[in-house]
Amino acid sequence: MASTISAISLFLLALFALAHFSSSVQGPNRHVARLAKRFDPVEHDTPIVPKASAAAAGDKYLLGVGKADITGPVVEINFAGYADTEQRGTGLRQRIYCRAFIIGQVGKPENRFVYLVLDTMSGDTAVRNGILEGLAKLGSEYAVYGRNNVAVTGTHSHSGPGGWFNYLLPQITSFGFDKQGYQAIVDGAVLAIKRAHESLQEGYLDFGTTRIEDANINRSLYAYLANPEAERAQYPDSTDKTMTLLRFRRASDLKAIGVLTWFAVHPTSMLGNNTHVSGDNKGVAAYLFEQSVKGSDAVADGFVAGFSQSNHGDTSPNVLGAWCDDGSGQMCDFQTSTCSDGKSQKCHGRGPLFYNLDLGVSSCYELGRRQFFPAKELFHSLDSESTPVVGPTVRAFHYWNDMSYYKFPLPNGTIVQTCPAALGHSFAAGTSDWPGAFDFTQGDSGEPNNPFWSVVGGLLRTPSHAQKACQAPKPILLDVGEMTTPYAWTPNIIDVQTLRVGQFFIIVSPSEVCTMAGRRWRNAVKAAAQEAGMTGDTEPYVVIAGPANTYAHYVTTPEEYAVQRYEGASTLYGQWELPAYINLTLRGLPYLAPTATGSPPAGPTPPDNRAKSLSFITGVVMDGTPIGKSFGQCIKQPSSSYSRGAVVSATFQGANPRNNLRLEGTFAAVEKLGADGKTWTRWLDDKDWRLVYTWKRTNGALGYSEVTITWETDVDLDPAGTYRIKYYGDQKPLIGSIKAFEGTSNSFTLN
Ligand SMILES: *[C@@H]1O[C@H](CO)[C@@H](O)[C@H](O)[C@H]1NC(C)=O
Ligand SMILES: *[C@@H]1O[C@H](CO)[C@@H](O)[C@H](O)[C@H]1NC(C)=O
Ligand SMILES: *[C@@H]1O[C@H](CO)[C@@H](O)[C@H](O)[C@H]1NC(C)=O
Ligand SMILES: *[C@@H]1O[C@H](CO)[C@@H](O)[C@H](O)[C@H]1NC(C)=O
Repeated sequence: MASTISAISLFLLALFALAHFSSSVQGPNRHVARLAKRFDPVEHDTPIVPKASAAAAGDKYLLGVGKADITGPVVEINFAGYADTEQRGTGLRQRIYCRAFIIGQVGKPENRFVYLVLDTMSGDTAVRNGILEGLAKLGSEYAVYGRNNVAVTGTHSHSGPGGWFNYLLPQITSFGFDKQGYQAIVDGAVLAIKRAHESLQEGYLDFGTTRIEDANINRSLYAYLANPEAERAQYPDSTDKTMTLLRFRRASDLKAIGVLTWFAVHPTSMLGNNTHVSGDNKGVAAYLFEQSVKGSDAVADGFVAGFSQSNHGDTSPNVLGAWCDDGSGQMCDFQTSTCSDGKSQKCHGRGPLFYNLDLGVSSCYELGRRQFFPAKELFHSLDSESTPVVGPTVRAFHYWNDMSYYKFPLPNGTIVQTCPAALGHSFAAGTSDWPGAFDFTQGDSGEPNNPFWSVVGGLLRTPSHAQKACQAPKPILLDVGEMTTPYAWTPNIIDVQTLRVGQFFIIVSPSEVCTMAGRRWRNAVKAAAQEAGMTGDTEPYVVIAGPANTYAHYVTTPEEYAVQRYEGASTLYGQWELPAYINLTLRGLPYLAPTATGSPPAGPTPPDNRAKSLSFITGVVMDGTPIGKSFGQCIKQPSSSYSRGAVVSATFQGANPRNNLRLEGTFAAVEKLGADGKTWTRWLDDKDWRLVYTWKRTNGALGYSEVTITWETDVDLDPAGTYRIKYYGDQKPLIGSIKAFEGTSNSFTLN
């Protein structure tokens, strides 16, 4: 039991702290907001007609790509990321996906890996276990995929349903484990892998890089400046501005089947009071890329664009900087990210289109565009200049390591150790893009309003002396690594994984990697690969990916750890976490050698909490309609005409979308009337950013609800014509089975 603070206020701090998975931007910023420019395929695409060229194609590999829907319940479930209990879904802006990329060695089918990009807050142990079980069920053909070679990475979007985590801490704000959302992610990931597997064919890989100036900024510069000056001088920026793009082309006609990019930026463009599901800025970038190549000669059908996360820990998409919303017109304090009241609640990072006051929607789209557009240009430029992936070797290794008191030597020979997980004071006191603290103020003065608390509240413990000493200089707020009742609160056992194709190495991190930590980790792997002669005469190229496989919060450099800002306080395993991660990666590296066989010993198995996880999430009881109304009836028709650029809206008598997630389908659509005046064809659906589905309960006892579908029409993208809105729902009677229904609005013209 915590001695000085009551267990309740500690819990409230924990909730507060969870709201700060992402904190705010630091430092001055002179960016001028650019106008959001939506992608116009004609304007940008035509000057650069991609010509597939066989020049310097590199070695052949087995390549496959696939994509599937993982959109869990879009209403009534807490979002993962900001961990604010109040942030619960009310609808859907854009479906979220798993994108799967398989790379295999020709002639050695056992040598391959699967790289997954999920539009989720992170990878996770429960989800990973589910995916591996799902693959095993697909039969012997899929036995080649397993623990060793499947990398489950999240984009770190903060705009999707939560409740699927293996460990207790992130379950608190979602009121426990949500089987439905968990299953949606697992099933979608397995389907994406199946699609990628079925598309396997021989092909080539090549890659290139581009600088993106305006899509991330440092948000913890004060900590970054603690790194040695000589080291900082080696880099032009305090965040990595480089995007790496790996292109997948099939050998048969050299058409691209996919691209995989890595760029470091927090997907926290949507604010913490947004309640519509989306994949945040990475989801937008992937959508724009995939839309932009539709019908292009340079790409094959089924083309998939993955926008993966990199060393983004101390980066922010809020490129206008962090400001105090207290009327002072001041930026937040450089060292502490607080405002004039000494607190961080009023400190908010501002996205590029912050002034639109639209819950981050336009800033998010703009940040997606700022990643998409350079990626697209880079994609085309690879035809004239690219680095082919060479060397036949495709390898992967994975093992688990217990980080509680892991002893290892630093490069200078001094033996140090890591510690059981713990979160420091700045985890709660830290900076924020989103306050979320109001919840706690309420709770402070009365009963906790979270049912989870009554079960786990008494279990917080005081850290042991060994733990305090090990974690120093971190002042411990939550000793999560020593709390195992009712089950583990955070991972102590982490996944260590690295993938390799030719000279291209992918470090798969369980933690959010901060900028300088990522550089050190990449450099160490590159040097070791070079020293071991693993890539012959070719220079190794290394990227960092994550958070993946589980969620182990942050990793900073030891120097940044000493500063104990938010990211340091969230570096779970103590000051030597980064050197330990590097040691663990290097230990596995020999398994990636061209002549290597087998895989390292698996290590200790992490706890599987799926079966014992608590849940206070209630299901749908029933849906009903007021007398005289029917499900799907359009109760508020759109106007008869709109000008392009206007927002069209229609409201229907609805039912709870948790009755049927309609995976691979849609809740909403816009249909366009054909020239024959009779045929309607689908113009937009749930995958499209500008079509928004909103669900609202209007009578809890009788189960009435309404669905409003809005279409933010676009002057450039939506042609004039006659349209109508469709709504697809499923209603649950008190007794009996769920039934599908649909609704159709009157038609209207767009001029
Ligand atoms: C941190 O980011 C700000 C805003 O982009 C920039 O002005 C500043 O130079 C950056 N600091 C360093 C040390 O790179
Ligand atoms: C959402 O949060 C932002 C930032 O604090 C605020 O400006 C905006 O008014 C909020 N919007 C709503 C609908 O609460
Ligand atoms: C990593 O640490 C282990 C001890 O845990 C040690 O045996 C090994 O030499 C270290 N490897 C590297 C590359 O530092
Ligand atoms: C090795 O490096 C660590 C970290 O910089 C330092 O604390 C330690 O004193 C060094 N040991 C020796 C023997 O120089």
